[in-house]
Amino acid sequence: MTNFGNYEERVKGFSWALSEQELGYQPGQIINIGWYCSDRICQLGKADKTALIWEGFTGEKKIFSYNDIRLYSNVFAQFLTDLGIKAGDRVCLFMDRVPELYIGFVGILKTGAIAQPLFSAFGEESLFIRLENAQTSAIFTQKKHVSKVRKIRERLPHLKHIIIVDYDGKTPLQAREVAFSMEGSKKVEHYDIYPTYAETPSVLHYTSGTTGMPKGVQHVHYSLISQYLTAKWVLDLKDDDIYWCTADPGWVTGTSYGIIAPFSLGITQCVLDSGFSAEAWYKFIEKNRVTVWYSAPTAIRSLMKAGDEIIKKFDLSSLRHLASVGEPLNPEAVNWSIRVFGKPFHDTYWQTETGCIVITNFPGMPVKPGSMGRPFPGITATVLNPNNYEPYPEPGRIGLIGLKPGWPSMMRTYWNNEEAYKNKFRNGWYLTGDRARIDKEGYFWFVGRDDDVINTAGHLVSPFEVESALLEHPSVAESAVVSKPDPINMEVVKAFVTLKPGFTPSKDLELDIMNFIRKKLSPLAMPQEIEFVDSLPKTRSGKIMRRILHAKEWGEEIGDTSTLEND
Ligand code: PRX
Repeated sequence: MTNFGNYEERVKGFSWALSEQELGYQPGQIINIGWYCSDRICQLGKADKTALIWEGFTGEKKIFSYNDIRLYSNVFAQFLTDLGIKAGDRVCLFMDRVPELYIGFVGILKTGAIAQPLFSAFGEESLFIRLENAQTSAIFTQKKHVSKVRKIRERLPHLKHIIIVDYDGKTPLQAREVAFSMEGSKKVEHYDIYPTYAETPSVLHYTSGTTGMPKGVQHVHYSLISQYLTAKWVLDLKDDDIYWCTADPGWVTGTSYGIIAPFSLGITQCVLDSGFSAEAWYKFIEKNRVTVWYSAPTAIRSLMKAGDEIIKKFDLSSLRHLASVGEPLNPEAVNWSIRVFGKPFHDTYWQTETGCIVITNFPGMPVKPGSMGRPFPGITATVLNPNNYEPYPEPGRIGLIGLKPGWPSMMRTYWNNEEAYKNKFRNGWYLTGDRARIDKEGYFWFVGRDDDVINTAGHLVSPFEVESALLEHPSVAESAVVSKPDPINMEVVKAFVTLKPGFTPSKDLELDIMNFIRKKLSPLAMPQEIEFVDSLPKTRSGKIMRRILHAKEWGEEIGDTSTLEND
């Protein structure tokens, strides 16, 4: 039996009150995600249950019970309170997938402050843009990443505390730095959790758009209501499961379904803090007897590439339910997983902005390989005509995926950018920025994005951000950034560049520019190819026509070029 059961029955008369009741929450009462993820589970009699099995890249292993999560998150919370952090302040987590990242997140929420997780592979400029925009007060980081913070701290006057979670005393602490040891601190049996309510801000995740700098997607504590229920129904999480979500909490999957959902359900989850290798992943599943596995298409394609032979070396019979998110899941990947694991990957579709899964292939329902599945009960999803933002009355038409706002984990705004937020709505629909069609049975089929944002290995990269960074390289005069197809990552970043006088194209220059972007932004944003050109296609008003370059890379029709400058 699945937790979900039958689609039609679940949809009929659905109300989010069901989730509220299961969580023992009554509208108007205090709701604090930190409490739900630790203290409540202990109160339900599961204090000794394993919450987190953690393995580092050296093979080091640590296990934390729910009582440990409760006590250590209290340690974090008390430490922040003693530093003077107040409710509403932004506190950043800039760390690899160490236990402090998961538990610190819970601790920050207990103080009423807003957790701002950022991917630890970000270079200093990506970090700066996001800390500056959020006016972040404190950042938790590790020794290995602190040099990036040091390079930008003078430009961040509001960043009062740089907290190093693994300080070893070997080199002196610098300005605003403070050492903190989660396990070395005195346990805090009682912490006065800040009384947050449904609409109190909880998490700020930065996401990339086509134009302008990254936007801070702001969620609230009430998001728990839909994160809890979607995890229960879509990931089919049950009390005796061993769950593995491979996403990094620098991104929304890693917080919604890597921290909030499993901890609020009182599930045992495991985390592997190391890079990808098929062998290491299969070994991890075998060793921990993983039952529910939530991953991403790029990882699945990489596993496919590693071949079927390697799978036979491991006992993966514990796997019970598989799910995927972040990019289109190819039908071949679904068919492959049926062949090698005896079960399909279930696609789940959602966004940083939606906070929870909104369209999915439900457990127990027939999977149509290549389709994203059907809307979650309580989510009204449709395909809109781009000309009038009305839903297409008939199935089969390609249009914009629109969602009726109102589910608990819908973003509440873009941080300090209400205008961009308002611009996401038309005719009462929230526009996802994606295109799809719906078939006769109500299944959604993803077609593509409706903007220039690049989805590489499940991570969104803004062409604008990369173009801006490219212009800071001494040799670059102009740049245009588009995606190009890639068999594993689906898309990768490609840059077209014109050079300043005195510079000539060369392999060395290409590598130098690539490295410049990797360090400044991140390995994800680094162009995999730089093409040096004499000029870029522009409109008569001087706007670079990325569309033309994109079409060339994808072997598509170039379309209307009547506005092209050098026509
Ligand atoms: O374009 C869609 C793609 O990823 C975008 C959201 O990215 P982000 O906010 O970073 O959140 C990723 C994890 C929730 C979407 O607008 N996307 C996400 N899931 C799918 C997908 N594209 C196709 N199929 C999916 N299942």
